[in-house]
Amino acid sequence: MNLCVLGAQWGDEGKGKIVDLLTPRFSLVARYQGGHNAGHTVYVKGRKFVLHLIPSGILHPGVVCIIGNGVVVDPTALFAEFDELIGMGVDVAGRLFISDKAHVILPYHRELDVLAEARRGEQKIGTTSRGIGPAYEDKIGRRGIRMGDLADASADGPLSIAVQHNVDARNRLVGNSDMKWQEVLADLRRAWVRLRPLVIDTSLHLHQAITAGSAVMFEGAQGTLLDIDHGTYPYVTSSNATAGGAATGLGVGPGVIGNVLGVAKAYTTRVGGGPLPTELLGEMGERLRETGMEYGASTGRPRRCGWFDAVAVRYAARVNGLHSIAITKLDVLDGINELEICTAYRCGNQTLTEMPSDLAQLSLCEPLYETVPGWSEPTKGVVEFDRLPENARRYIRRLEETSGVPASIISTGSDRDHTILRPEFSPF
Ligand code: GDP
Ligand code: IMO
Ligand code: MG
Repeated sequence: MNLCVLGAQWGDEGKGKIVDLLTPRFSLVARYQGGHNAGHTVYVKGRKFVLHLIPSGILHPGVVCIIGNGVVVDPTALFAEFDELIGMGVDVAGRLFISDKAHVILPYHRELDVLAEARRGEQKIGTTSRGIGPAYEDKIGRRGIRMGDLADASADGPLSIAVQHNVDARNRLVGNSDMKWQEVLADLRRAWVRLRPLVIDTSLHLHQAITAGSAVMFEGAQGTLLDIDHGTYPYVTSSNATAGGAATGLGVGPGVIGNVLGVAKAYTTRVGGGPLPTELLGEMGERLRETGMEYGASTGRPRRCGWFDAVAVRYAARVNGLHSIAITKLDVLDGINELEICTAYRCGNQTLTEMPSDLAQLSLCEPLYETVPGWSEPTKGVVEFDRLPENARRYIRRLEETSGVPASIISTGSDRDHTILRPEFSPF
C-alpha cells in the first residue's frame, strides 16, 4: 500500500524523520511540490542530514527517489545538495530522477522573491527567499521553463527565446538591465550537462513501478496551513502541500495515493508571518523554542512557538483525508507542569470549532484551551507506548480525541530509533 506523508500544521513537523523511518517499507520515495524552501532534518546514529530538494528516502541504499513535476528545481541548489550527500558517503548515483515537467528556478526568481517581500513591507510573508513564489508564478503564467526544455541546444530555439523573454521581463520589473539573458542561458546549458541523466518522465516511471508491484511513499513539504489553497492565504507557500498535490504533482491517479499520514508536533510552530492562534510570546514560547531547538533548517530563523492547536489539526485531517497522525517532539514537553490544548477559537462573541477561511477573522481568533496535567519523567528515547508516563499517555489520547485522528506513530527524539510505533492504529 502506498503512503503519503505530509505536514498537518505550518511545516517543520518532523516529516523528514518520519519519511526516513518508514522508507525501508517502500521502493520509491517521491517529492510532489515545493522546492529548496523545505528543510527536512534526519539524524542517523548521531549524524545530521538536512534534505531540501532531494527526498528524505535517499539515505536508504537502493531506494529510488523522485522529484516530481509539481516541484520547482533550482539546479544550483540541487547540485549543492547532491554533492553534500556524496561528501557524507551517501550513494546518490542512479537513484535520483527529476520530472521533465518540473519547472526551473532561475536567478531572477530569487531576486524577484526578495524584491516582492521588500515591497510588501509590514505585510511581508517572510518567505525563504529561494525564488519559490516567482517560479510558480511563471509556471501558472505559462511562461516558465521546464527541465525537459533544457534539452534544446539550438541557438535560436524555444529555450533561447523563453530565456530572452523572461530576462527582458525581469529587467523591466527591476528597472535595470544588469542581467544578461546570454549568461542565464549559458548557465542553463552548463547545468543541463549534469542534469540530463536525471531528467525523465517520472509519471511513467512511477506508473511502471506501481504496476510491477512496487510501493511508493509520497513526501510532502511545508504543511497544510501553508498550502496555497487551504492555508492561511496569503501567508502561505505557492504550492499544494496537501494530499491532493501528490496526484497532480507526480502525475498519478488519486486512487494510487493510498494512505495519508499527517505529521504534527505535540505543540505548534510557524516560521514567517501570518496568524498563529496559539502563539506564546512569553517565557513558555521561549522554553519551547530552546528545548525544541526551533530554528529553521533552511534559513536558521527562530520559529514562533505555541500550544497544540487541535482546530488546525482537525482541519488538516479533513482537507487531507488523514488516516492517522505521527505526533513528534513529545519529549520537548517533558517537565512542563500543565499543558494547554486549543480545542476551539473565540472570535468576538462566536465560538468557532472549525478553521475560518477569512484571514481577518482568523487573526482575531483567541484560542479556547483545555488544561491537562504534564509529566516530570523523561520521555526522550521511549519506544513503547506503555512505558510513557501516565500523563503523557493521557496527553496523546486527548490530542487524538480533539483532533479526531489516531496517532499511529509517536516520536520521542530526533533519532530514527526514538520512536513508538502503534501497529494497532497503523494503516500502512
Ligand atoms: P520537517 O521540515 O517537517 O522535516 O521538520 P524539520 O526537520 O524542519 O524540523 C523538525 C526538527 O525536529 C528537526 O531538527 C528534527 O531532527 C527534530 N525532531 C524530529 N522529531 C523529533 C522528536 O521527536 N524529538 C525531538 N526532540 N526532535 C525531533
Ligand atoms: P518544510 O518542508 C516551514 C514558509 C516560509 C514563509 C512561507 C512562504 O521544512 O516543512 P516560500 O519561500 O515558500 O515562498 O515562503 O512558507 N515555509 C516554510 N515554513 N517549513 C517549510 O518547509 C517551509 N517552506 C516555506 O517561512 O512563511
Ligand atoms: Mg523543515
